Amino acid sequence: MAVDLLLGLQWGDEGKGKIVDVLTSSYDIIARFQGGPNAGHTLEFEGNKHVLHTIPSGIFHPKAVNLIGNGVVIDPTVFMKEIEALEPYNIDFNKKLLISKKAHLILPTHRLLDAASEASKGKAKIGSTLKGIGPTYMDKTGRNGIRVGDIMAVDWEDKYKRLTKKHIGMLKSYKTSVEFDLEDLEINFFKSIKALKKFELVDSEQYLIEAQKKGSKILAEGAQGSLLDIDFGTYPFVTSSTTTAAGACTGLGVAPNKIKEVFGIFKAYVTRVGSGPFPTELFDSNGKTMAEIGNEFGSTTGRARRCGWIDLVALKYCIHINGVTQLMMMKGDVLSGFDKIKVCTAYQTESGEIDYLPYDIASQYIKPVYEELPGWHKDLTGITDLNEFPENFNNFIAYLEEALKTPIKIVSVGPDRKQTIFR
Ligand code: GDP
Ligand code: IMO
Ligand code: MG
Repeated sequence: MAVDLLLGLQWGDEGKGKIVDVLTSSYDIIARFQGGPNAGHTLEFEGNKHVLHTIPSGIFHPKAVNLIGNGVVIDPTVFMKEIEALEPYNIDFNKKLLISKKAHLILPTHRLLDAASEASKGKAKIGSTLKGIGPTYMDKTGRNGIRVGDIMAVDWEDKYKRLTKKHIGMLKSYKTSVEFDLEDLEINFFKSIKALKKFELVDSEQYLIEAQKKGSKILAEGAQGSLLDIDFGTYPFVTSSTTTAAGACTGLGVAPNKIKEVFGIFKAYVTRVGSGPFPTELFDSNGKTMAEIGNEFGSTTGRARRCGWIDLVALKYCIHINGVTQLMMMKGDVLSGFDKIKVCTAYQTESGEIDYLPYDIASQYIKPVYEELPGWHKDLTGITDLNEFPENFNNFIAYLEEALKTPIKIVSVGPDRKQTIFR
């Protein structure tokens, strides 16, 4: 079996980009399978800091092929900006970047529809990244979408015009109007489409079938996190794709029995950007400290991330849904200096304590139940060897492994590629 899978177990921003970059030297192909430019995957190495949105996080390695799978939604304008930002690295994109012809395109009007939908919801808004994700997946499942492969047909602009006309009609139906200059947006869009045509557009599932036959090692890179999954997340405050393990099967054409390791990545605490329930959210100085030390601002939108204590109820749920075989814990360094670390072990409901994720985790239905562990004061960011971990940090890791019944194989102690400890 040649396919491993890496995915976020919380509400996104767990550090997927960093770890994919760290692991890439062991793989031949890195493949994104869902989401789109709502993702912001940060990599830091050799003094460089880089945020990727659509392009897989293996792009900086000399050998690996990076593949944007059929399950991804691509905004050509964002994609071309990403390509421009990568110019200093002299990457041979013809050899190193493949794009599925079956991936769907985000049109300018999808972004406008996203904005209109959010504006119309007022206080109940999802807190979408406004990248057009929801409307694009709606057109995909509604069987109206435009796929990357379509842009090679001579009459594809007719299809584009028909869909855009429909979108304009939909925009008019919203009471809250969104200001836009479509002509201006289209100049950039069509310029980016022209550029996109020069990339390697492939039948990506076939490419992966052949790669598996040859014994290539493939790592599927998830975006967002399991609690943002369209089915298993905190609906409706979720994204519009399957962010859990099943998404790798539909988003790449990889059969379930070909998946070997499932790497589940989580922060030593929890963050969430956007709206929706968050049982362990902190509104006190502890939350502020996590945000400050952890530099918790969205990589895509710059919005402040909400912070809270680690939630083992939610983590166990996500480990089960995804079939996680190995865990990776990020940002333990951010918790250095706390006298006590709280860990949510159950939810208190009207009918007693439960240790699973119910239909709704809004604060009126559940309250977190905590255990307290002693903290550690040593700065972890300079640690290069497992033996240098302070005792209470080791105890924290051991406690989590026992509670989650899954080994923690990587501990990350800083944003840089090098600040990664294997266990
Ligand atoms: P992703 O979306 O899962 O790839 O994560 P993001 O890149 O959106 O957010 C993770 C943030 O944490 C980025 O700014 C990373 O550079 C940073 N980061 C990753 N791992 C660590 C870590 O172990 N410690 C600290 N302090 N920062 C980290
Ligand atoms: P990465 O891959 C964190 C959140 C948004 C919003 C909700 C719906 O970097 O971990 P959408 O634009 O998808 O319709 O927004 O999902 N969201 C993310 N939060 N990390 C992400 O990606 C996210 N992608 C979407 O903030 O609450
Ligand atoms: Mg992110």
